[in-house]
Amino acid sequence: MQRLRCDETQAWVRLQSYFEDQGSQQDLRTAFGLEPGRFNAFSQEAPYLFADLSKNLIDHQSQNLLFDLAKQCELEKCREDMFAGCAINTTEARAVMHYLLRWPKEKKDLPESLRHPISEVHATLDQMLSYAEQVRQDEAITDIVNIGIGGSDLGPVVAIQALEAYKIEKKRFHFVSSIDGLELGAVLKQIRPASTLFIVASKSFTTHETITNAQSAREWFLAAGGTQVARHFCAVTSNVEAARQFGIEKCFGFWDWVGGRFSLWSSIGLPIAISIGPEGFRDLLAGAHAMDMHFKRAPLEKNLPIRLALLDLWYRNFHGFTSRNVAPYYRGLRRMPAYLQQLEMESNGKSVDLDGQRLPYQTAPVIWGELGANGQHAYFQLLHQGTDVIPVEFLVVKKATHGLEIQHRITLANALAQSRALMMGQAESDGHRHMPGNRPSTTLMLDELSPASLGALIALYEHRVFVSGALWGINSFDQWGVQLGKVMANDMTSRLQTGDMDRLDASSAGLLKRLRT
Ligand code: F6P
Repeated sequence: MQRLRCDETQAWVRLQSYFEDQGSQQDLRTAFGLEPGRFNAFSQEAPYLFADLSKNLIDHQSQNLLFDLAKQCELEKCREDMFAGCAINTTEARAVMHYLLRWPKEKKDLPESLRHPISEVHATLDQMLSYAEQVRQDEAITDIVNIGIGGSDLGPVVAIQALEAYKIEKKRFHFVSSIDGLELGAVLKQIRPASTLFIVASKSFTTHETITNAQSAREWFLAAGGTQVARHFCAVTSNVEAARQFGIEKCFGFWDWVGGRFSLWSSIGLPIAISIGPEGFRDLLAGAHAMDMHFKRAPLEKNLPIRLALLDLWYRNFHGFTSRNVAPYYRGLRRMPAYLQQLEMESNGKSVDLDGQRLPYQTAPVIWGELGANGQHAYFQLLHQGTDVIPVEFLVVKKATHGLEIQHRITLANALAQSRALMMGQAESDGHRHMPGNRPSTTLMLDELSPASLGALIALYEHRVFVSGALWGINSFDQWGVQLGKVMANDMTSRLQTGDMDRLDASSAGLLKRLRT
């Protein structure tokens, strides 16, 4: 029997009428006045973090209806299917098992069918970590250059920045992702062949930005007097054959059931392991695993990824909010918005159901943001007084590692002040100073930014994305939308070289002509 689509459930219809009758009118200030226990009722503990959902436009009635919706969409069955290794990525006939990458070795309660993959996971992890340790000990290697894009870049970037306090001394990390020559060029100016390790990171090993940059890096290496390509280049890929053909001997594999944007836990995490060490990397996995277990076991009502995803659906499909701002108030988390853009928008930026039929409702919102401390002196104006309501997600870290207490206190105060100002507003008669308030936000609080808490935070987002995708009835694990651009880029590259305008639209032809003259 087919699952009901979310808009075909009774709960959806009831949410619709509740929204029209009351939900759309909800005022947070009144809600807090009426319910002194609102903060506790709408907050949630989860491994390594605490979430305050109480400043959201939600009440007990709408929340209960959302839980009903999850049940009627058989969300629990979807979750079971993922954890059982079913091929839920239907368009590519693949299982989705990034959670397996962080499954502890000693824990045996896995279905029989996952015993083989898990033994491969641990064998590869051990190899990758022992290589990472070897690089850490190798004093001759001072610079690590990761060449990769999308999921083969963002996870390592986020983690290495976030875990700066755990970073090995005397090694520098560089990331070359785009094909814009300024990126590779700037890195090559800072390094020497004899002291550099290039990591070519590409799940497919066909991504033309990565392969072109890797080729140029190798040419530079040889031209600058480098010897021993085998010692200075390694690859992380699920296409080991292609990496070998490229001439790289040292390869660490992973599997087609790990999506690129879910891959930082695999060998793609090699730069992270070099930076924070094998123990640190294992702690990162352990934190993520703790969140996996929370997601797998906690009842819907106490399950943070599920509560957040239901809120996302409520905002997107009933309130009609089109975007969500991510505001980290900790410099270590400055690339989280970019990471989440890929995770959420590449996963759930879809408009058809599992059978390829067009959906009659909206799916993923636009995710955007940067460090909140900077944003509040720029676009927060629009968040407070603009015509659109944009829910904000504050990411705060209780204990800082930098030791500058005054700075940290003021940073935290600003995060709290912003969420309070968004909600309270300001009742001024002068229209310019009037702030409507009642603008929703969520605060996610980590006690400290450690490998384990970072692992838990990222796993939280992964499961949230899975849940909203499952509720919307879409395949969160493919990304066909990026293919056309890749094909056209190849075509344009040769046209730029030859000047061929045959069957080009007039705008593209005009631009191409200008670029060639
Ligand atoms: O273009 C999208 C994408 O396929 C992402 O999903 C992926 O993370 C990125 O490109 C890089 O792909 P690869 O790791 O295969 O080079």
